[in-house]
Amino acid sequence: MLDELSYNVVNDPMRIYRAKRDFARKRVTDKYSILGFISSGTYGRVYKAESKIDRVVHAIKKFKPDKEGDIVTYTGISQSAIREIALNREISHENVVALNEVILEDKSIYMVFEYAEHDFLQVIHHHSQTLRSPITPTVLKSLTYQLLNGLLYLHNAHIIHRDLKPANILITSSGVVKIGDLGLARLTYQPLQPLFAGDKVVVTIWYRAPELLLGAKHYNKAVDIWAVGCVMAELASLRPIFKGEEAKLDSKKNVPFQKDQLLKIFEVLGTPDERDWPGLKDLPEYQNMKRLDYSDVEHSYQNRLAEWCQSRIRPHQGGDLLRQLFIYDPDRRLTAYEALQHKWFQEEPLPSKNVFQSVPANQIPPHRRITHDEAPSMMPVPAANSQAQAQIAQVQAQAAAHLSQQLMGSHPLSQQSGRAGSVASFASLSGGTAAGGSGHPRKKARMG
Ligand SMILES: Nc1ncnc2c1ncn2[C@@H]1O[C@H](COP(=O)(O)OP(=O)(O)O)[C@@H](O)[C@H]1O
Ligand SMILES: [Mg+2]
Repeated sequence: MLDELSYNVVNDPMRIYRAKRDFARKRVTDKYSILGFISSGTYGRVYKAESKIDRVVHAIKKFKPDKEGDIVTYTGISQSAIREIALNREISHENVVALNEVILEDKSIYMVFEYAEHDFLQVIHHHSQTLRSPITPTVLKSLTYQLLNGLLYLHNAHIIHRDLKPANILITSSGVVKIGDLGLARLTYQPLQPLFAGDKVVVTIWYRAPELLLGAKHYNKAVDIWAVGCVMAELASLRPIFKGEEAKLDSKKNVPFQKDQLLKIFEVLGTPDERDWPGLKDLPEYQNMKRLDYSDVEHSYQNRLAEWCQSRIRPHQGGDLLRQLFIYDPDRRLTAYEALQHKWFQEEPLPSKNVFQSVPANQIPPHRRITHDEAPSMMPVPAANSQAQAQIAQVQAQAAAHLSQQLMGSHPLSQQSGRAGSVASFASLSGGTAAGGSGHPRKKARMG
């Protein structure tokens, strides 16, 4: 027999509703088996997981809840997560990683993505560390082409990625390039603040366009094209082309002048001037840039890109594409569309749908490494760890048992008069739940 308190608890309609809702809501681990841990990034952890329904493998990105010391607080959903979800839900393209679903659970957000076995950084490491040989021109061309193709789609959808770099560009096991990590992406019609304005945003400066380094207040899609140039050069030479030392924010959080990064660029591309780049003189860091040129060296840097390319990108047309991705003036820099029309992509060998098509099986990069020690943090906290949670679980279990009793009781032959009202309210709640969904924001709208 239930005592009075338990009886009230069990019959509280709100509790019944919540219990029913929580019962119906599938937890991440109900739907996916966690196979292992992939990476800990800026905003959270990424896991490899297999769907329990169709056994398809996915990557699940778990955003960290806000944490102060050991106390997990819930101050809302992080801006980065909102952006990444909002943009990802609206897009669908073969060369952009697909978001399959979003699950909200225990103050954390889980984004479930299609799984990509490789990424550009891993391919670069594989060639520099294991094979000790360059990426072939055919593979280089296919990787660059598919990257530009995904980027054209994003740019046409008015999205600037802003964080293109080898670790964020994925490749599936069937050799299809997928642009990932839209955590810093923005819609172009929103006013764009400088990247470093505000807070904790950390972006590698090696891929940062010169207009950003010179403090431009307004910038556009051309920043992504610059990054593509840096990525293409890195694929060709297996090391970052402009590997500058980042100047850190000072104690007053003033944005520093990235002197070393600009020098690294000038060493290869020469110092820009007003003829190459109208409006250069008006950029906030122009005076700093001038000082850099004349105080640190006796003469202006000359453009030596052709020389740089000679030993690294043999076919002449590949070098020409790189030159045009690295045009200083953002308005003259190639667009993704123009880049895709470049002669290099029209001449043999043509870019392939499977970037690994021409690669012998024993030279294909190994599968993504996963570890297991981190995986348990995806599991639900054991009830024993928290008394409160144990109590909640108990009440939920009681309520669930009670509900199923009521359900059975709703059969005309076994119905007890005193319980009829509860059955009715359960029926209406259950209708409401079905109509409102189980709380999983699923991908509904897709463009294109
Ligand atoms: N869909 C995916 N499939 C496989 N691995 C992924 C996937 N998405 C991300 N990763 C791995 O996790 C890392 C971090 O993910 P990312 O989305 O870039 O988040 P962060 O904002 O933390 O950089 C990536 O560099 C990649 O190694
Ligand atoms: Mg990333």
